[in-house]
Amino acid sequence: MRGLAGKRVLISGGSSGIGAATARRFLEEGSRVVLGGLEQAEVAATVAELSPLGEVSGLAGDVRAEADVARLVEGAIAAMGGVDVLVNNAGTAWREPFLEITPDHWDTIIAVNLRGMFLVAQAVARHLVERGEGGVILNMSSTNGLGGEADYAHYNASKGGVLLLTRTMAVELGKHGIRVNALCPGYIRTPLNSAISAGLDGDFVSSYERDHIPLGRAGFAEEVAAGYAFLASDDAAFVHGTELVIDGGQLAIM
Ligand SMILES: NC(=O)c1ccc[n+]([C@@H]2O[C@H](COP(=O)([O-])OP(=O)(O)OC[C@H]3O[C@@H](n4cnc5c(N)ncnc54)[C@H](O)[C@@H]3O)[C@@H](O)[C@H]2O)c1
Repeated sequence: MRGLAGKRVLISGGSSGIGAATARRFLEEGSRVVLGGLEQAEVAATVAELSPLGEVSGLAGDVRAEADVARLVEGAIAAMGGVDVLVNNAGTAWREPFLEITPDHWDTIIAVNLRGMFLVAQAVARHLVERGEGGVILNMSSTNGLGGEADYAHYNASKGGVLLLTRTMAVELGKHGIRVNALCPGYIRTPLNSAISAGLDGDFVSSYERDHIPLGRAGFAEEVAAGYAFLASDDAAFVHGTELVIDGGQLAIM
């Protein structure tokens, strides 16, 4: 991918799943990486695993907390001498019928997936505007931001919110040379989805793959990492204020 070598990349939620695969991909492209994550032990383990590939370090913290976000972004700037690309990836999900969602559960999903995304994006955008050399911000949405999957009302609302946050940021930040886009993956094999499907019937994943995904399989984290890499690269220099769907054709079904 053109233009990624030497880029300084901050990845929130980079300690697991899609974020960890994305850290690996950027390191393979010759970028430098600081990754965040909720659990210190998981951050340290992922950094240790990826270290042979290049310059990578990690910082644990909760994206819901302003102080933690300030530590993450200031720490990344200090570690790399600045940030050029934000992969705003941290998020959480669980299944829950709409009629049973408690206000606390609603608040938790919105706080991690929408407030957290806003806090990290704003902190990095302020850095990029102050530096005046442009940059890239990529926000993680989902196919669930484009369609209303049952039992995910809070998650769907948070990911739909990410799409309009992304478009508004693109409108306001374009004049600073900051490109802003979103990713909308479909069903991807990650620890998050393993935890969700562990509570469901044994054949849930295979029947979901058969009935909902025209390519007949779930996606891999590496296939989403490739989308992040493309959108961050110079090959996407005129891609701005939109979303890239990576779903094996799931949204094409009527
Ligand atoms: N797996 C999928 O099918 C899928 C599909 C579409 C979108 N997504 C989105 O992709 C992103 C990554 O998901 P994944 O499947 O790789 O999950 P994962 O559970 O493997 O990784 C989630 C990452 O986010 C971090 N995180 C969670 N809560 C946090 C918090 N409060 N503060 C800081 N970091 C926190 C975790 O530490 C971890 O690094 C999420 O935003 C998710 O909504 C996933």
